[in-house]
Amino acid sequence: MLKGKVALITGASRGIGRAIALAMAAHGADVALIYAGNDKAASEVEQEAASFGIKARCYKCNVADYSATEALVAQITEDFGGIDILVNNAGITRDKLIMQMSEADYDDVLSVNLKGAYNMIKHTSRQFIKKRYGKIINITSVSGIMGNAGQANYSASKAGMIGLTKSVARELAGRGINCNAIAPGFIGTDMTDAMPESAREELIKNIPLKRIGEPEDIANLAVFLASDLANYITGEVIKVDGGLCM
Ligand code: NAI
Repeated sequence: MLKGKVALITGASRGIGRAIALAMAAHGADVALIYAGNDKAASEVEQEAASFGIKARCYKCNVADYSATEALVAQITEDFGGIDILVNNAGITRDKLIMQMSEADYDDVLSVNLKGAYNMIKHTSRQFIKKRYGKIINITSVSGIMGNAGQANYSASKAGMIGLTKSVARELAGRGINCNAIAPGFIGTDMTDAMPESAREELIKNIPLKRIGEPEDIANLAVFLASDLANYITGEVIKVDGGLCM
C-alpha cells in the first residue's frame, strides 16, 4: 500500500512509533526512524523494519530543537531522495496537578509534543509543496479533547496539536497535502505501563471495548491515512480509543 514512499516517523524506537514504523515498512515504505535516547532499541527497530525488504535507517535527534530538526530533514532527504510521509509521534509526559507543576514541567512537554511537531512540519513542507504530495499524521491524544486532571501540560500540547493539524490541513490542502491527527485512548506502552494495577482496572471498566489498546491499533490507522486510500480525508482528528471518548 505504501510501496515506493518514504516515511519519517518520530519517536520510533518503541511503543506506538515503533509499531507505526514496522507497519509502514510491512506495507512497503522506506522508513527513517527518529528517536531521542536508546540507541540499542532504535537499531533493533531498524533491523526489524529492514527485514521487510525496505530501506530503514535510524537517526538520533531531539525534535524540540529547531536547527537540529532542520539538519535532520536535510540529511534524510539526501539519504532517501525525499520524504513523502511525516508522522509526528514523539511525545513525553510530566504529569502533575497544576499546583505542583513547575515551569520546566510545562515548557518541556510543550517543547517536545507541540513545538516538535511544528519543527518537523516546517522543515518537510517545502518539499511536500514542491512535489504537490505529502501525508502528515500527528499523534495527539484523547487528553487533548477531553482534558485530564494531572495532565494540564500534556493536554494543552495535544489540544494544540489539533489546532496545528487543522490549520496546516487548510493551508496545504490546495497543494495535494493531507494533514490529519490520530487521538489514541489508553494504549499499552512504556508511557502507560507505569500506571498502578488498580488504576488500570478502573480505567478498563470505562472503556466500552473492555481492553487497553495495542500500539498496532494506532499503526493500522496511520498506514491507512498515509496511503492514497485516504486522499479525500484532511483536517480530521480520528479517535482510536475503544469507545472511551464518544
Ligand atoms: P513512549 O514513551 O513509549 O515512546 C516515546 C517515543 O518518543 C520514544 O521513541 C522516544 O525516544 C521518543 N521521544 C521522546 N522525546 C523525544 C524528543 N525530544 N525527540 C525525539 N524523540 C523523542 O510513548 P508512546 O506511549 O509510544 O506514545 C507515542 C505517542 O502517542 C506520544 O505522542 C503520546 O503522547 C501519544 N499517546 C500515547 C498514548 C498511550 O496510551 N500510550 C495515549 C495517547 C497518546
